[in-house]
Amino acid sequence: MEICPSVETVRACVARYRAAGESVGLVTTMGALHEGHLELMRAARREHDRVIATIFVNPTQFGEVADLAHYPSDDARDIDLLKGENVDALFLPEVQVIYPPGDETIVETTHLANVLHGKVRPGHFRGVATVVARLFNIVGPDAAYFGEKDYQQLQVIKRMVRDLHFPLSVVGVPTVREADGLAMSSRNVRLTPEDRAAAVVLSRSLQAAETLVASGTTIEALGEAIRATIKSEARATLRAVDIVEAESLTPYSGAVDRPTAIMISAEFGGVLLIDQREVQP
Ligand code: PAF
Repeated sequence: MEICPSVETVRACVARYRAAGESVGLVTTMGALHEGHLELMRAARREHDRVIATIFVNPTQFGEVADLAHYPSDDARDIDLLKGENVDALFLPEVQVIYPPGDETIVETTHLANVLHGKVRPGHFRGVATVVARLFNIVGPDAAYFGEKDYQQLQVIKRMVRDLHFPLSVVGVPTVREADGLAMSSRNVRLTPEDRAAAVVLSRSLQAAETLVASGTTIEALGEAIRATIKSEARATLRAVDIVEAESLTPYSGAVDRPTAIMISAEFGGVLLIDQREVQP
């Protein structure tokens, strides 16, 4: 696996692949790789001749400096995992490569970035859109792979690619879960054993919600049921339950009668976890 620290080196790799007529799939990450990321690599591998991964802990998407400082990082371990997945090249830039001195350009999806999680994390999705736009421009892949777990992030990126006419497709990959249902996340390692056990309430409440939707329900009843399940877990501090139209992320009321996204965020011992599910009536 070639490790590329600069824009020039990663572009040289892509140019070689292109010259050989090969297609390129991209997986952008912030490191601390887990099975969820590896699933993205495998999806890219299935559909492309070459796979490029990026590891860049993007400072502009962290609201609090403390959150950025706590973000786990172990490049040597991540590199071994990427080699294990036969990733062809890794783009591993320093901050000033992505954000050159004097940098002042941002990318923002004005509606999608500022609803739901965007309301509690102001600037977060602007940071994500900005870095992903730069990574897309640097690498120039045919397709880029993102987890459905970060549902709002996926919608933001899809909209940005559509609106700015990026010549690539955005592929959503289903959430990878632990055996008990907990969605994989780099944050899970920060949970105490007790909080780790309690966190399963997120996926349990989504499972119950799906059953409720299948038998016919309303947005209001669904919200009540999810909130009650999460509140029954004493270690969980519920931050938000959002039930919205899929893709547009617009709230609606009454019968659940269209593709609908349920997004939950809750804290366990100070660690904020999210989970989501798209349900069909
Ligand atoms: O999902 C992530 O890991 C990050 O938000 C991303 C897409 C790599 C942008 O920094």
